[in-house]
Amino acid sequence: MSDQRFLVTGAMGCIGAWTCALLAEEGVDVVGYDLGSNDSRIRLATDRPIEVVRGDITDRDGLGRLLDERGITHVVHLAALLLPMIKANPPHGTAVNVGGTVNVFDLAKTRGIRVAYASSAAVYGPDDETGGPVPNDVVPHPATFYGVHKRACEELARIFWQEEGVPSIGIRPYVVYGPGRDAGLTASPTLAMAAAARGEDFEIAFGGRSQMQFAPDTARVFIRSARAATEAAGVYNLGGAAVSMTDVAREIEAVAGTTVTVDDGTVLPFPAEFDGSALEERIGPISWTPLAEGVRQTVDRLRAASG
Ligand SMILES: NC(=O)c1ccc[n+]([C@@H]2O[C@H](COP(=O)([O-])OP(=O)(O)OC[C@H]3O[C@@H](n4cnc5c(N)ncnc54)[C@H](O)[C@@H]3O)[C@@H](O)[C@H]2O)c1
Repeated sequence: MSDQRFLVTGAMGCIGAWTCALLAEEGVDVVGYDLGSNDSRIRLATDRPIEVVRGDITDRDGLGRLLDERGITHVVHLAALLLPMIKANPPHGTAVNVGGTVNVFDLAKTRGIRVAYASSAAVYGPDDETGGPVPNDVVPHPATFYGVHKRACEELARIFWQEEGVPSIGIRPYVVYGPGRDAGLTASPTLAMAAAARGEDFEIAFGGRSQMQFAPDTARVFIRSARAATEAAGVYNLGGAAVSMTDVAREIEAVAGTTVTVDDGTVLPFPAEFDGSALEERIGPISWTPLAEGVRQTVDRLRAASG
């Protein structure tokens, strides 16, 4: 492992912070790359020092210099903008989400770098509901700018392998939760855990069933995927257990004793469940932290951080 040097884009985000933390705890060289300067999510994930170089994913030359200076062998590419920021400025949103991803693949091309990157369950839209877990090979019909961006990244990854020999694995997370998850509509279950850690009641902003994926487990999948990306350009549903938001609310109440309600009138515009078996065939079995344990760890960590 000592010959591996990882770069994590979006390192100050939730999944990025956990990815850096887990790599550092393994003793692997890791450097983050992020436009932001707030390391609070990293501090929630680990006490270890994590170097994060401040930079924009759209700055191809700056990113390329960093890859060379550090002799990077693996990139976990997570930097992206969410829907509200894309809608406010579609050209910029597209430059970051699609252009930034092209920069990563194009720079990997001549450097022999293995890439794991974040796609999203949002490549699927409401029309893709199958009544059961959506198989990995169903062709998605994204219904938002964000979903189209992520789908474009998947297709670009395919072409970068086909024409340029850049190996990659794309992962489609759904509802990631855990310490550090605080932005976007699907952060609502974690915001309920944060409120519980403060002793406050909360209403989760959407109902229905979705797959809840614990952030450290998700980060571990990205690390394993970067290592496994020796050939081809696969893209995979992340998997994990589908649960109802009512069950999530009950787990939080059991841990913290606060009241958690659910806005059942709002349902995410995606299918409830995606089949993750193709990913496990590709990278090996995934051991998911049970929901009750993930909720408990999240509330405990958020309490410790605030106390
Ligand atoms: N969290 C989820 O439930 C979820 C679900 C599906 C897909 N994803 C994808 O996983 C990835 C990580 O998600 P997250 O929840 O950790 O996101 P996040 O929003 O917490 O973090 C994203 C990070 O990217 C950085 N960033 C944004 N624009 C940048 C730019 N131009 N240059 C450099 N850095 C920039 C931000 O500063 C931020 O630290 C994203 O690509 C996201 O689309 C997440």
